[in-house]
Amino acid sequence: MPEPVGGSEELVLAFLAEAADDFVSGEVISGKLGLSRAAVWKHVRSLRSRGYRIDALPARGYRLAEIPDRLGSLEVKPLLNTHDLGQVLHCREQLPSTSDLAKEIAEHGAAHGEVVIADRQTAGRGRRGRAWSSPPGKNLYLSVVLRPQLPPQRASELTLVASLAVCDACRQAGVDAGIKWPNDVLVGGRKVAGILTELAAEPDEVHWVVIGIGVNLNAAEEDFPEELRGVAASLAIARGQPVPRALFAAALLALLEQWLDRHAEEGFGVVREAWRERSVTLGHDVRVDVDGVDVEGVAEDLDQTGALLVRSGGSLMRVVAGDVVLLRPR
Ligand code: BTN
Repeated sequence: MPEPVGGSEELVLAFLAEAADDFVSGEVISGKLGLSRAAVWKHVRSLRSRGYRIDALPARGYRLAEIPDRLGSLEVKPLLNTHDLGQVLHCREQLPSTSDLAKEIAEHGAAHGEVVIADRQTAGRGRRGRAWSSPPGKNLYLSVVLRPQLPPQRASELTLVASLAVCDACRQAGVDAGIKWPNDVLVGGRKVAGILTELAAEPDEVHWVVIGIGVNLNAAEEDFPEELRGVAASLAIARGQPVPRALFAAALLALLEQWLDRHAEEGFGVVREAWRERSVTLGHDVRVDVDGVDVEGVAEDLDQTGALLVRSGGSLMRVVAGDVVLLRPR
């Protein structure tokens, strides 16, 4: 029988995950966790039977070499280094959309930071009514319930906050990611991740925000629908080796929490600065579809509210929503 999450087996796993590529001696683990050496060994054997590959060397101890590529609570929870995000995790094999379930639980009182993850989505949704390709066993589809202390007019800032976390998680995974306004994460000009933000609010109060994040982690070229080939990519395509999904999910949630905390404490200014540094939009000639009308110009800046400033002809346009096509750098 697997031990419940939070049992000593999960503590051993968390300890090994924390040590990353280093060996940790059985003595150190037993001392730190207050377990006998025999109990540590029993947990290592049990973790191996659950698919974790743990190297053991007599003089050096244990090292976590590989984790099973599943996205259940048992895999993700021990790797989490957050205070709120993902502390309550709803993991499912299949859902129409993680954001639909997240909105439902938010309506029923879910706490700030509850997260929904699915291995596969049958009706994954993208921005502007598009579908989000969500094959099983490959990628990451998650939605986070937030209850921010923000006026509704500022809720759109959270989308840009999330794009920083996704971009940084991709960079930590070793790919040179950048952000296309407002929140597409690209590698080599191809989209690897998208963010869909939905909320319920009254004029002066946000009830909840659901941030839905899709990251193409291990999809191969042939996993993408025809129309996305050459336009979308995955981190595995970009870096030439697969990405452990549970590790990526835990790292992403930790980065998202850090950026949300900074945004709450320091305001939008730090987010704006960080976004500019990661932008692949600013300084480019762009075409923007604003309410069905195409406008071409130079993407000049992100303003204090998160809108894109595009110089077109003699005038500076403030774009608050729309799709950007990158034409060429200036
Ligand atoms: C975009 O169009 O770029 C946004 C894509 C967002 C996809 C994610 S996958 C998890 C969550 N569930 C959904 O149905 N959509 C979001």
